[in-house]
Amino acid sequence: MADTNQSIHSEWSSRFAFILAATGSAVGLGNIWKFPYITGENGGGAFVIIYLICVAAIGIPIMIAETMMGRRGRQSPINTLKVLTKEAGANTNWHYLGWLGVIAGFFILSYYSVIAGWSMAYVVKAFTGSFSGQSALEINNLFADLQASPGVQIFWHTVFMVATMAVVARGVQGGLEKAVRFLMPGLFILLMLLVAYAMTTGAYLQGLEFMFKPDFSEITGASVLTAMGHAFFTLSLGMGAIMVYGSYLPKGISIAKTTILIAGADTLVALLAGIAIFPIVFANGLEVGSGPGLIFQTLPIAFGNMTGGWLFGLLFFVLLVFAALSSAISLIEPAVAWCVEHYDIERKKACVVMGFLTWLLGLGTVFSFNNWSDVTFFGATIFESLDFLTANLMLPLGGFFIALFAGRVMLSKDSKEELDLGDDRLFDLWKFLVSYVAPAAVFIVFLHVLGVFS
Ligand code: TRP
Repeated sequence: MADTNQSIHSEWSSRFAFILAATGSAVGLGNIWKFPYITGENGGGAFVIIYLICVAAIGIPIMIAETMMGRRGRQSPINTLKVLTKEAGANTNWHYLGWLGVIAGFFILSYYSVIAGWSMAYVVKAFTGSFSGQSALEINNLFADLQASPGVQIFWHTVFMVATMAVVARGVQGGLEKAVRFLMPGLFILLMLLVAYAMTTGAYLQGLEFMFKPDFSEITGASVLTAMGHAFFTLSLGMGAIMVYGSYLPKGISIAKTTILIAGADTLVALLAGIAIFPIVFANGLEVGSGPGLIFQTLPIAFGNMTGGWLFGLLFFVLLVFAALSSAISLIEPAVAWCVEHYDIERKKACVVMGFLTWLLGLGTVFSFNNWSDVTFFGATIFESLDFLTANLMLPLGGFFIALFAGRVMLSKDSKEELDLGDDRLFDLWKFLVSYVAPAAVFIVFLHVLGVFS
């Protein structure tokens, strides 16, 4: 194992390549699939505001911290933490934080792949014209059939996992840089098209009102936790994904500016997805809180009703699958990078092992929608439990410790040198946010959910 601050993996070819990869990681199912349905379940506007505050006050400072730590440590998160604790002369137990991240990434990918599989199934449905002229009820039935069928879901889950591991096996810098380059603009254009369709539904204003008019009486401790957890999830924070990407970042690139750009793009995509989806929900008398099927029950209605809809639908789901793929690889990269460093094995072998384990765990999610829908932990299905455990607990907890590490354990001179903000006041602001604001916010939300304040 190398213990100098030299990467044994390769570097991004430029700042732009890092932006593409990190945006590729951030923008994914979290923005288009998860954000709208949790906004629907948590009452809309007030939830959106809390989410935006969490992105700005907690997400961005922690994203800067993760990228900075990765670039300084230059290894997988576990070994980066070892290197950085040594540099700061701190307690060696900090590297367990890397483990928390590896496990969180593995859990998330297990269900992420199943949902990406649904998107793949929808590529085929769009291609065969299944949406055209269908009523909301018929579209709903298409989704219900998919959910009821473990076989179909396992098939697509398998295809998606194989694709993910094939990309990771080649090293994340290769094909990925190129894919994201057309993916992001493409996704953006199709979302704008969906927003244009939403304007024709007659419920556009109602949709906007739902998303942006806050009603704080809808907010509970649990929804604040969900909003905060989602800020981590959507920016790929709290588990080392951005840290590992940061470790491939060449020196001399402004981390702060780059990060703000990425977070901004990510937020924009999520908001656009919501703006497109809610008018369709209201116009068709659907249920805002209908859960993880929401995009699959709404967007096909739009595609089924617009001219050339089959083509746009096809393009949209293809792009969604690619967006999921560019996120999925960052979920498993920390685990793979660690295997390569620790066991000194080939990347390919590490991928086969990790990919298989993730696939296996993913079966739990597949069955939670049908055969095992009554297998629950504290009233949550396997899928819901994995989602809650990771997004609402492990990521914020990981983020809490990452923030403390960057703010309180790393020496100021090291983080200042690495960030190279050029302005001491900006550095102080960042340091204040990661040392106090972000950890305190996570802590308070946790206490709140534990019922300490009620
Ligand atoms: N951010 C991605 C999305 O919104 C998911 C993701 C990729 C992720 N890497 C991550 C979430 C690391 C948490 C941690 O779809």
